[in-house]
Amino acid sequence: MTSWFYGSDARDCSPAEPTAGALGFHRSLPGYEPTPLVELPDVAAELGVGRVFMKDESQRLGLPAFKVLGASWACRQVLERSPGARLVTATDGNHGRAVARMASHFRVASTVFVPAVMLPATARKIEDEGADIVWVDGDYDEAVRRAAYFAAKEDGRELVQDTAWEGYTDVPDWIVEGYQTLLHEVDEQLAALDTSANLVAVPVGVGSLAEAVVRHYRQPTGPRPRVLSVEPDTAACVLESLATGRPTTVPTDATVMAGLNCGTMSTSAWPVLRDGGVAAVAVTDEEALRAVDDLARLGVSSGPCGAATLAGVRAALAVPGRFFSLGLSSVDVVVLLSTEGAHP
Ligand SMILES: Cc1ncc(COP(=O)(O)O)c(C=O)c1O
Repeated sequence: MTSWFYGSDARDCSPAEPTAGALGFHRSLPGYEPTPLVELPDVAAELGVGRVFMKDESQRLGLPAFKVLGASWACRQVLERSPGARLVTATDGNHGRAVARMASHFRVASTVFVPAVMLPATARKIEDEGADIVWVDGDYDEAVRRAAYFAAKEDGRELVQDTAWEGYTDVPDWIVEGYQTLLHEVDEQLAALDTSANLVAVPVGVGSLAEAVVRHYRQPTGPRPRVLSVEPDTAACVLESLATGRPTTVPTDATVMAGLNCGTMSTSAWPVLRDGGVAAVAVTDEEALRAVDDLARLGVSSGPCGAATLAGVRAALAVPGRFFSLGLSSVDVVVLLSTEGAHP
């Protein structure tokens, strides 16, 4: 299997700045504040670049992952359209917990479909938010199919899924809009230090977060960093799709990077990533866990999905020539998106 892809051309994207709506909505939520952007000089020295920053999403609106940014805005929009609806979703963990939390916030019911490989402790956290859990005898893709079917079966149910397919794009678009709050914060935090990003590494499951990153950084004006997609080697659907030039589903297996355990890309993410000049790499569980430990030693709480970005940049740069393929120089600024906190 391919473990590295390098896309050279990057076209502009249609504008998708954080809508005043999503950003304003997040700012109105109790407990909202920008998450920290932590500088890691030791990692910069190791990688041979100017500066390395890690966007630390270990505490986001009271949850230990960035996902609530997308789920909150999408739930709000869905309930504006269908007041009082039961919110339905499928999840590897973080998205479902965020939807369940928002359902409680908006005082509506929720049903969350979870794949057979989910750890019982993860399912319990979703249940504790007030959701009804449905175990699916299958993988994440199967859980998504079951959730979509369940939502469509009766009036008064609304699917809030963080991946798009033909005919289902409104909600994933809102989710991508919601994620852009994170990037807006990164830009402001870097601007306050008089700098901007040259490379942004993003952990990838279905590719919606990566879509937000590429949309944000492929505007006609503004910073235009290279984007590195990082996936588990057991679920590298974006890498495989970019390498083969068409959206490709891959079989998946259990991984410590549970939130990235997705075998099929979002159809909305595909053209954006294909045309966005994205580089992609796959990492092993061992590489991700080593990054978790290294970050913990540096005082950053990062789970395997979040730390995967450090593992990914390391894997990308381990091979001679890739430093230059990524357009990096020794003074450049690398931003690693650490999308979840360390698991307890
Ligand atoms: C912690 C974490 N990081 C990254 C991702 C990847 O996001 P996407 O599925 O939009 O690619 C997920 C998805 O659930 C996640 O939970």
